[in-house]
Amino acid sequence: MMQRREFARRLFVGACVPAIPGVIGFPVGLGQDAGKSSRAGLMKVATSRKAVAATVHPLASKAAMNAYSRGGNAVDAAVAASLMLSVVDGHNSGLGGGGLALIRLPDGKHVAIDGRERAPMSVQKDTFIRNGKPDPMLSQTGPLAAATPGLVALLEHISKTYGKVGWRESLAEAAEVAERGFAIDRVTARSIASTADSIRQFAATATVLLDADAQAPKEGTVLVQKDLGRTLRKLADSGAAWFYEGEFAERTASFMREQGGLLSVRDFKEYTTPSRDVVETIYRGHKVIGFPPPSSGGIHVAQMLIMLERFSVAELFKDAPAKAYHLLAEVMKRAMADRAYWLGDADYAEVPLGLLDRGYLADRSRDIDLDKATEVASHGKPPRKEHDLFEDRKHTTHLTAADSSGLVIALTQTVNTSFGSKVMVPGTGVVLNNEMDDFSLAPGVRNAFGLVGSAANSVEPGKRPLSSMSPTIVSDSSGAWRLTCGAAGGPKITTVTLQNIVKLIDLGMSIDEALASPRIHHQWSPDTLSVEDKLPAAIQAELKMRGHSIATSSALAIAQGIMRDSEGLLTAASDPRVPSSASGLTS
Ligand code: DON
Repeated sequence: MMQRREFARRLFVGACVPAIPGVIGFPVGLGQDAGKSSRAGLMKVATSRKAVAATVHPLASKAAMNAYSRGGNAVDAAVAASLMLSVVDGHNSGLGGGGLALIRLPDGKHVAIDGRERAPMSVQKDTFIRNGKPDPMLSQTGPLAAATPGLVALLEHISKTYGKVGWRESLAEAAEVAERGFAIDRVTARSIASTADSIRQFAATATVLLDADAQAPKEGTVLVQKDLGRTLRKLADSGAAWFYEGEFAERTASFMREQGGLLSVRDFKEYTTPSRDVVETIYRGHKVIGFPPPSSGGIHVAQMLIMLERFSVAELFKDAPAKAYHLLAEVMKRAMADRAYWLGDADYAEVPLGLLDRGYLADRSRDIDLDKATEVASHGKPPRKEHDLFEDRKHTTHLTAADSSGLVIALTQTVNTSFGSKVMVPGTGVVLNNEMDDFSLAPGVRNAFGLVGSAANSVEPGKRPLSSMSPTIVSDSSGAWRLTCGAAGGPKITTVTLQNIVKLIDLGMSIDEALASPRIHHQWSPDTLSVEDKLPAAIQAELKMRGHSIATSSALAIAQGIMRDSEGLLTAASDPRVPSSASGLTS
């Protein structure tokens, strides 16, 4: 244990207080899973001087290691893991969805590649309105819910631009698992069971995911996906052009015409994966790099860090942990209120750079009272709205990989809720996303995650729906990279990413300790503070006394991360809340 704490302490030299014994009542050791492996035998932490990866599925982590063994780098490993996840973890992400990749290159430059889905060009303001009212059923299930998928284009682009060995062998490996089948884990079994009623409405999806009696398969059942195998082999033979300009686009468009969906051949043909300018913030001497719009994550993690910087967070956690959690909740509320009003795809909406102005954030956080919850009535008014805008400078999973060359990738990918729209394009094995639900259908109308939005995130042709995905990379004051993290979990992605950064920088935890420790989440509206039930009861009671309305949950978000110590040792960790795994290259 001592060794781990020493290790943690070395991560952000000079920036953090000594690790706090039994900090805020966390079980010492921070989760039984945080040692080497979990009770199920899955590796949750892996160290290597050469290369590591962490994903939510052992087969995906293995695919990453196989890519390294073929001479690949961290990007090749991430691409291999992503493709394997499309086979073994299809409820969270897949070829019919999208993703955001934040990459640090060995020379210290960061690139943000946007593989977020885009709304179909023929979408109308009233596409999701029935009898004068927005109908979230339409944006959540069925053909209208699907936006143009971006993941395939994203993976091919990063593989060609930053990878070393190409993606063909990784595609073949994923195809083999799809064709041969794999035993589904408890998370997938539960996910199919909980969506079985919707899946039954779509014959192609039901044939693949349900058993012969149209029932959800049990944990351990072997799931075979022959059509998906064929799709992966087509990509290996013909590249992403097969998907965006060939058979896949044509099949999808004709199925959409039959089913009343909107995706057309043109939507696929015009799909692009732009590079975006990263969001860069200094927090206690560290450089925190986040993803810009259409992610809201980068901006709001930065806002929350800047608001926190004027408080002694480490001391608060040590001396008055309930106050520290309360402070986190208060900055979350303020940032998420801004999200609801200001954020949308910056190619369409005016997203002010002033949201990150330190003076603005000092004003915004001035009324934080450490003794009681304050009402945050609405969004703030950041400065210079007219001129300084982001754009003009032109069920989900997080996976991550890093190698000794200094190449790091944080990739969050999603089909949105479990199995997305539930619509499988017949003959392809590809389930389409329901990312249209990440738009704000109308002011005050909540999406599947209870989020509200404004005109900035309204539905428009070709626009990318706002995302909470927050792939993040942190460097120290010397410019050396030290941490990468991200998560799945809708809006909880942003607030949990904040907590993981704070736990490493302010509290001196190691990445596995941070991932195992209890989390909280506040998204401003509804005015509820969600806490994991393992947060000590005394802290929950104190938070209630401060005026928070508390809801408990067994798990808030699923996160993966890697830290690098000052001597270059890489430690990858995966979330102990699910059967995830971390791996490292030994030779
Ligand atoms: O992009 C977003 O914000 C959502 N589509 C993410 C959904 C998600 O994290 C579901 N996960 N559990």
